[in-house]
Amino acid sequence: MKTLEETPLEANKVILRTDLNLPIEDGEPRKTIRFKRYLKTIQKLSEENAKTVILAHQGRPTRKDFTSLEKHSQILSNELNQEVKLVQSFFGQNLEEAINSMENGDVILLENIRFLSEELQNVKPDIHKNDFFVKTLAENTDIFVNDAFSAAHRTHGSIVGFTPIMDSYAGIVMENEFESCKKIRDDLEDPVLVLGGEKPSDIIRMLNHMIEDVDKVLLGGVPGELALMIQGRKLGQKSDWIKEQGFDKGRKDLENLLEQYKDKIIVPKDVKTDSGNYLPENVPEDDMVWDIGSKTQEKYSEIIENTDSVLMKGPMGAFEDNPEGTKSIIDALADTEAFTVLGGGHTSSLVERFNREMDEFSHVSIAGGAFVRFMSGEDLPAIKTLQKYS
Ligand code: 3PG
Repeated sequence: MKTLEETPLEANKVILRTDLNLPIEDGEPRKTIRFKRYLKTIQKLSEENAKTVILAHQGRPTRKDFTSLEKHSQILSNELNQEVKLVQSFFGQNLEEAINSMENGDVILLENIRFLSEELQNVKPDIHKNDFFVKTLAENTDIFVNDAFSAAHRTHGSIVGFTPIMDSYAGIVMENEFESCKKIRDDLEDPVLVLGGEKPSDIIRMLNHMIEDVDKVLLGGVPGELALMIQGRKLGQKSDWIKEQGFDKGRKDLENLLEQYKDKIIVPKDVKTDSGNYLPENVPEDDMVWDIGSKTQEKYSEIIENTDSVLMKGPMGAFEDNPEGTKSIIDALADTEAFTVLGGGHTSSLVERFNREMDEFSHVSIAGGAFVRFMSGEDLPAIKTLQKYS
C-alpha cells in the first residue's frame, strides 16, 4: 500500500474516505476515540494545504442512527477552526462547483454516502469503479486516500471503487491499524487472547484462525458463559437469556474448540451475579450472571502479567453496571510491559470508561467488524484493493 508520505498534498484535490460512524446520543454524534483518530488525518491534509473532499457514512438504512452528516460537519468545523461545508450532492453542478471553488487547505464533507443506493451494493472494485458517483468524483479530483480501516471489510463503492481508477493511498489510521493488527496476528509468538463481548460467533471466527499460534485463550463475557453452559453449568437465568438472544448458535463449534484445545482455552472459575460471587455450579436458579467473578479476575490478571503479548476483544461482562471484571483486565493490560492490543466492538471505549490513557496500550484499534475479520485471517477489501493497485 502506498502511504501519505509518498505524495505531495499541497493544492491537490483529495477524496478522503474516512469513518465518522459515531454513536448518536440525544441527536448528537459523540466524539469518540474513533472520531479523534480520524480527525488527525483530516487535520494533516488541511495543514498541508490539500483541498479535501470527505466521504463518510453514518448508520445503515432502517436503523435509528442512519442520519444526515449535518451535525458531523458542525463538529468538524469547530475542531478544525474553519468552515467544513456539508455538500448534499454526490454528482452534478452543485458538487462540481463546491469542489472547484475550494482554496488550498479547505475541507468539505459530502452527505452520508449510504443515502446513495449504489454505495451499498456488495460488488467487486471493477464494478464499483463504474458507479456514476465514483466516476464523477474521480474526474473532479486528483488522488484518493482511504483511511477508513473500520469500514475496510465492506465492498462498498466509496471503499473500493476509486482505487482502480485513481492514484490511491492508505491514510494514517489505515496504515497504523494495518501494521499493529498484523503484528499481533502474524508476527508475535504465542500471544494470550482475552475474548469476551456478546457475540460468540466473532470469537469462534477468530479462534478458528489463531488458536494454533496462541499460548492461551481467556474467555469472558457471553462466550465465557456459553463455554460454561457447554460444560453443563446452568448459570441461573443467564442460560435462557443467551438462548433467547440466539448467542448459542455457535455452540457446537465452541464445543469442538473446547474439546480440541482444552489445555489452551480457559473458562471463568467463578461469576458475579445479582446476589453475589459464585462458582458456576452454584449460581441460584432465579439469579442473573453479569460478570466474571473475583477469582477469575485474579487468575486472568496473573496470566496477563506473565506474558509478552496480549490481545483483548470485548468486555468481560455487562460493564456499565458491573464494571469490576472488565476493569481488572483493562488495568492488567495497561500496567504490563507486554505488547497489548485492544479491538473489536466497543473495546476501545473501555479505555476512557476506566480512566486509562491510550498510550498505556501498544495499540487500541477503533474498528469493530473489520478488526474481527482481520484477526480471523480474512482479506479486508479496502486493503486488498489498495495493495493490488498500488
Ligand atoms: C463500524 O462502525 O464498524 C463501521 O463504520 C462499519 O459500519 P457497518 O458495520 O454499518 O458497515
